[in-house]
Amino acid sequence: MTPADLDSLKKAAALKAVEFVREGMVVGLGTGSTAKHMVVALGEKIRAGMRLRGVPTSQETAALARQSGIPLIDTENRWEIDVAIDGADQVDPGFNLIKGGGGALLKEKIVAASAKQFIVLVDHTKQVPVLGGSFPLPIEVIPFGWGSTAREIERLTKSPVVLRERNGAPFKTEAGHFIVDVHLARIEQPADLEAVLNHIPGIVETGLFVGRTDILIVGKANGTETLRANKT
Ligand code: A5P
Repeated sequence: MTPADLDSLKKAAALKAVEFVREGMVVGLGTGSTAKHMVVALGEKIRAGMRLRGVPTSQETAALARQSGIPLIDTENRWEIDVAIDGADQVDPGFNLIKGGGGALLKEKIVAASAKQFIVLVDHTKQVPVLGGSFPLPIEVIPFGWGSTAREIERLTKSPVVLRERNGAPFKTEAGHFIVDVHLARIEQPADLEAVLNHIPGIVETGLFVGRTDILIVGKANGTETLRANKT
């Protein structure tokens, strides 16, 4: 499948997702190449007369949303978000996710957690039987003592931990943190792993999104599939 083919699957999933957005809603705007299509599609809805406001999960998304004419609420901190829509790097059969390939996982998780509904968009290549393997787990860490934090992650997961770099320097998130990518072969129990990681001092947030997805929209060659999570 070519990158252009994949992109058309992402776009199809994004167009399906915006059907869930209704007049007057506050929408959490995800980050990444899939979420971009959703932001553009919401801009089209606004041009067609719909009222809505967005909460962006990155500066990149905020810029695209402004260009697309979406009014933003990015300064308030007690949002009433009706629906957050975002991409993911991997999704397992329980709709648990790895996110953070683009480095926006912290804001993405805050926004997803604040939303009444969380809609996730993927092309079918991101569906995996078990998280891990081909995609490392991004973890946002405080720069102070990051090497010790990484060593502790390595000790607990028994997996290689690599500091993410850009242009020869540590990649910095919008919040000024570093990201380490953990190369885990199989994440059989994502909730347990998240709980263990959350106890390590220096970890700000992990790219595991466990039990957060309400609706999963999968772009496939023969159309989109919309799946609802069985949340109790
Ligand atoms: C950004 O940090 C990520 O969580 C993205 O949401 C995720 O990497 C999916 O990105 P794509 O839609 O570009 O694959």
